[in-house]
Amino acid sequence: MQIEKICVVGAGNMGHQIALCAALAGYKVKCTDVNPEILQKAEQFAETYLPERVTKGKLSEEAARSARANVSFTIDLKEAAGDADLVIEAVLEKLDLKREIFARLDKMCPPVAILTTNSSYIVSSRLADITQRPGKVCNMHFFNPVLVMKLVEVLKGPHTAVETVEAVMEVARRMGKIPVLLQKEIYGFLVNRILSALRREALYLYDMGIASFEDIDAAVVHGLGYPMGPFRLMDLTGIDLSYYISMERYQETGDPAYKPSPIVVEKFVKGEWGRKTGKGFYDYDD
Ligand SMILES: NC(=O)c1ccc[n+]([C@@H]2O[C@H](COP(=O)([O-])OP(=O)(O)OC[C@H]3O[C@@H](n4cnc5c(N)ncnc54)[C@H](O)[C@@H]3O)[C@@H](O)[C@H]2O)c1
Repeated sequence: MQIEKICVVGAGNMGHQIALCAALAGYKVKCTDVNPEILQKAEQFAETYLPERVTKGKLSEEAARSARANVSFTIDLKEAAGDADLVIEAVLEKLDLKREIFARLDKMCPPVAILTTNSSYIVSSRLADITQRPGKVCNMHFFNPVLVMKLVEVLKGPHTAVETVEAVMEVARRMGKIPVLLQKEIYGFLVNRILSALRREALYLYDMGIASFEDIDAAVVHGLGYPMGPFRLMDLTGIDLSYYISMERYQETGDPAYKPSPIVVEKFVKGEWGRKTGKGFYDYDD
């Protein structure tokens, strides 16, 4: 199907950049959020980001003007989604909220519209059943920061039609992304599964007293060629987040492999959550 109009629901960390990325690719984009301040911030971001790219010589003035004209912001979900060909939902990671939004979108959107979720962990089969169009529902998972990161994970649920994933992969390509297709749904998708396996092993080695976290990071950077070691990355994404994700998974599965490691629990309790608190595994003076 021909996709021209995209609606992005949720203008937070991910949504505002997904909207801009789609606008830069020539799609007509409507971005919506329940919070007017977030929506205003998203619009301000577009106002400053595009001219900055022009100044840096990364974007022509014409392309910046056209991208700005392609994206609009509204608090009204019906106005944003009513004529969309594709919806990308990027609201908080809460199943009940996403289900409620999918039910509303299903009633508001044209019957041919595709509904996707940018969720990091919730597979679309947990959302598709609330709609009358399960064949047109799938995951479209972008990476942070969206304007920089190339990868998009597209997940085909058991309910998803082949044409739906093909159309979504094509949109990702037109946005300059590299889409990868997961033929089946799986918790954590590709990247987060591989990352958590690496993180689990790094934490195990540290907790066993085999090496310092600095040396484990150095081994991963200089031995595997990764841009950043797992401890520095945890500081960046937030040790609190690592704790919550492990805890939730542990409670869900009962599998001790997911139990937060002692050092993560210690840092979590002390409030040493990484960059955002000024201290995590490393110290951040700034
Ligand atoms: N932050 C990341 O690094 C990252 C990366 C990949 C995927 N994700 C996924 O993207 C989604 C959004 O994450 P985020 O980090 O952008 O969160 P965020 O908290 O920055 O933004 C979520 C936005 O949703 C809005 N919202 C809440 N209820 C709404 C409603 N009923 N209608 C419209 N908007 C509503 C909030 O006001 C908020 O602005 C989550 O599912 C998350 O798992 C996040």
